[in-house]
Amino acid sequence: MNAELQTPAMSQTHNGLIKAVPGLPASDYYDPARYELELAKIWYRNWIYVARTSELTSPRDFKTVEIGSQRLILLRDESGELRAFHNTCRHRGAALCTDTSGRLASSHLICPYHSWSYSLKGELLRTSSKTLPEGFDRKDWSLYSVALREWNGFVFVNLAVDPPPFEAGFDAPLSRLDNWPMRDLVIAHSFTKTMNCNWKVFWENYNECLHCPTVHPSLCQLVPIFSRALMDEQDDPQWQAHAASDDPKYQDPRYKGGLRNGAVTWSRDGQSTAEHFPKLTPEDRKLGHVYVTALPTMFVAAHVDYVRVVRLRPLGPEQTELCVEFFVAPETLKNPQFDLSAIVEFTSVVMLEDAAVAELNQRGLRALPHERGVLMPEEWALLNFHRWVATEMARA
Ligand code: FES
Ligand SMILES: [Fe+2]
Repeated sequence: MNAELQTPAMSQTHNGLIKAVPGLPASDYYDPARYELELAKIWYRNWIYVARTSELTSPRDFKTVEIGSQRLILLRDESGELRAFHNTCRHRGAALCTDTSGRLASSHLICPYHSWSYSLKGELLRTSSKTLPEGFDRKDWSLYSVALREWNGFVFVNLAVDPPPFEAGFDAPLSRLDNWPMRDLVIAHSFTKTMNCNWKVFWENYNECLHCPTVHPSLCQLVPIFSRALMDEQDDPQWQAHAASDDPKYQDPRYKGGLRNGAVTWSRDGQSTAEHFPKLTPEDRKLGHVYVTALPTMFVAAHVDYVRVVRLRPLGPEQTELCVEFFVAPETLKNPQFDLSAIVEFTSVVMLEDAAVAELNQRGLRALPHERGVLMPEEWALLNFHRWVATEMARA
C-alpha cells in the first residue's frame, strides 16, 4: 500500500477508502485558466514521452512535436546525438520548421523568414544582415534547448529549466521492466484518438475499476477480479480472511487477480500467437500484465508477448489526444503465425470503452449545481492521483 495513503481516509487493512473523500472542483476539468496553469505546472515540468528513438535513426532526421502551446523540434545531430529545441528562431521568433517529420536537406537549420542559420547543435552560425550590430555576439543567440532523455527506446523531453530526476516520474523502479526487451521492440500497430475530455478525467478512469463491470464486459472475462469492480486482491476489504482461508475458491483469479485460468495474454481469446519474452519470471507470466505509469504522459502495460504504451497529450481544457502503441519483438513481426489483430482488436475495444466513458464523464461536469463529486471506497487510487495533482500545482 502506498505510504502516502496511510491517512485517516484510507483503511489500514486493505486498499480502500473508509471516508467519503471530495473530488476535485468540477471547474478544474473545464476552466481555461486552470488548464493553462496545469500546462505550466504539470505538463511543462514533467518528463513527457514524445517519440520513439527509431523514428530518428540517422543524422538530420527530425520530428516536430507539440506539448500544450509549446512547439518543439527533435533532431539527430551530425554526431548522432538526439537533441530537442523550441521550434523558434531567436531573431524574431518564427517557427523554424513547419514539416512534422523528415530529414533535413543540410546540416543547418535555416529559418524560412530571414534566413538565420543554426547548426544542429543549436548554435547560431549566420544571420542575413550585412553587418553585425555592436554588442551582438552570435554565441548569445543559440536555439532554446530542451532537456531530452532516452529510455529503452522512448524519447522524453522536459521543458523545465531545472528538470526533476527522470526516474522520479515513474510509479515503479525503472528496473521493473528489465525482463522485457524494451529497447529492441518494434512498433506493430498504433492508433490515435481525440477524446473530448480533460486529461485528468482519463487518468481518473485509469485509476479505478469500479467502472469495469459495466464498461468492460470482455475485459472482465479475461481478468476476473475486474468483474468484482476491484483492481487487485488487496482492494477487497475481506482479502486477509480470504488469503488465510482453506477454501480453494479464494485461490481463483476472481479473488487473486491476474488473467483467468488458461489465458496468457490480453487478446481476443486470451491466447498468444507470438513467442513469449524469454526473460520473464513465473510471476510476470502469472500476472499477465505489468503496469508502469509516468504521470501525466504515459503508461506501459507489459504482457508476455507484446507491450502496449498509452500516451496522452492535452489539446485543450476539454480535449485530449490518446495514442495507443503496440510493440513486439522484431522476430514476432516476421512470424507468419503472429495474429496482430487478436491483440489489437481486444485491447482497442477496452481503450475505446475507456475513452467513451471519459467523454461521458466530461459531458456532465458543467451542471450548475455540480461543484464536485465524491470518491467511493474502491476509488482509493484517485485520491493518490488528486494528491499528486495538488503537489504539482503547489510547487513554486
Ligand atoms: S525570424 Fe528567423 S530569421 Fe527572422
Ligand atoms: Fe477502464
